[in-house]
Amino acid sequence: MSIQSQFSPENEGLSALDQPPSTFHALEPAFLSDRVSGYFQHRVEGDWRGGHIMKGRRPGPNDLILSTNDYLSLTDHPHIVEAQVRALRENGRGILRSDVFRQGDDALRRFETELAALMGAGDVVTCQSGWNANVGLLQSIAGAETPVYIDMQAHTSLWEGILSAGATARPFRHNDPASLDRMAARHGPGVVAVDAVYSTSGETAPLVALADAAARHGCVMVVDESHSLGVFGARGEGLTAQLGVSGRVHFRTASLSKAFASRGGIVAGSARNMEYFRFESRPAIFSSGILPQEAAGFLATLRVIAEEGWRREALAENAEFLRARLAALDYNVEASQCQIVSLVAGAEANTMVLRDALERHGIFGSVFCAPATAKNRSLIRFSVNSSLTRGELERIAAVCGAIRHEVGLYGWSSTKKRKSPAGEPALRQSA
Ligand SMILES: Cc1ncc(COP(=O)(O)O)c(C=O)c1O
Repeated sequence: MSIQSQFSPENEGLSALDQPPSTFHALEPAFLSDRVSGYFQHRVEGDWRGGHIMKGRRPGPNDLILSTNDYLSLTDHPHIVEAQVRALRENGRGILRSDVFRQGDDALRRFETELAALMGAGDVVTCQSGWNANVGLLQSIAGAETPVYIDMQAHTSLWEGILSAGATARPFRHNDPASLDRMAARHGPGVVAVDAVYSTSGETAPLVALADAAARHGCVMVVDESHSLGVFGARGEGLTAQLGVSGRVHFRTASLSKAFASRGGIVAGSARNMEYFRFESRPAIFSSGILPQEAAGFLATLRVIAEEGWRREALAENAEFLRARLAALDYNVEASQCQIVSLVAGAEANTMVLRDALERHGIFGSVFCAPATAKNRSLIRFSVNSSLTRGELERIAAVCGAIRHEVGLYGWSSTKKRKSPAGEPALRQSA
């Protein structure tokens, strides 16, 4: 399109945003165009046959959304919304700067102090995201000489932290303290990094045995509590505290975009280490900090999470109900020990068929594929929440039951690997 035709009479009256995009672009060197072409050729045209694994239908008003990590159903909580609105009215959008410049006793500081008390930590530092919490932490505690023993399935942000630190990743077998023991015996004291709950499977980590192994080899222990903070523990203090290992875990991190239904992250640790981290983490120095309405939201949310234990109970009941119903329908959900329940279709083509079948019946989960999973272990994740009704859970189960043959459930390798029960009786029972 020429410059003249972009401003031709047929485009008159359109705002700048309505204008067709310009087709002009800078000449690209081959390394860039080859890389982008590789994506379109191999992923879009090859693996997804011209479709896109992340682009399904748009949900309608009667559809069930199981892709939000708002586990405790807090996005519309009136106290939280009111606290944020009040903060906006009182502060505008605040002072825009990095959090290293922040001082004094504001809502963010109160949030950190109250969260530290809840978690049984010396102090808490708030970060812009769970990603920044993990990257900033590893970058500030590990160096080129530090081995970082990382669970093979740990979240990508922990791996990114190792890269950012220039440290050496020493991966150990998933959820296997003996494997950690062997690695640490060979390479010496370092950092152990694990997730408390694994975000694609819903498995919990054997934190007691891992902390024992870390302590035996003089390691620093880092646990990512993104999917367990707010969910585990009588007041939502997380899995480390629930299991009584807080005294042997040096740092706990979390995203606030799961049970906290916000956008942010935290690191919890000793007061001295947190004072160090607050001023040494590169995301804290070189990226802008938290806005006042976000801080007010964190604080209000924390109080709701601690006080409204019935939400945790409802969540646990809902997750258990759905897991049991799916297991009876022959889906392999054996890994899940919490609110994350995944259907592992395997090959990406299978996951696209599963996505379409679920969405046609109004059930919207999250697609996970490479690089979030191995290419042959792609899946649809259901994030259960506390406000799902029994009727809605029954609807999900009914849909999953009805589509089993259409989606080829009995050909999936995850189905074949089920330990129990044998498939046939469950199939007859629920068919
Ligand atoms: C285990 C885990 N850690 C860290 C993160 C990153 O959190 P955020 O989305 O707040 O950057 C996520 C989110 O996907 C996660 O699942």
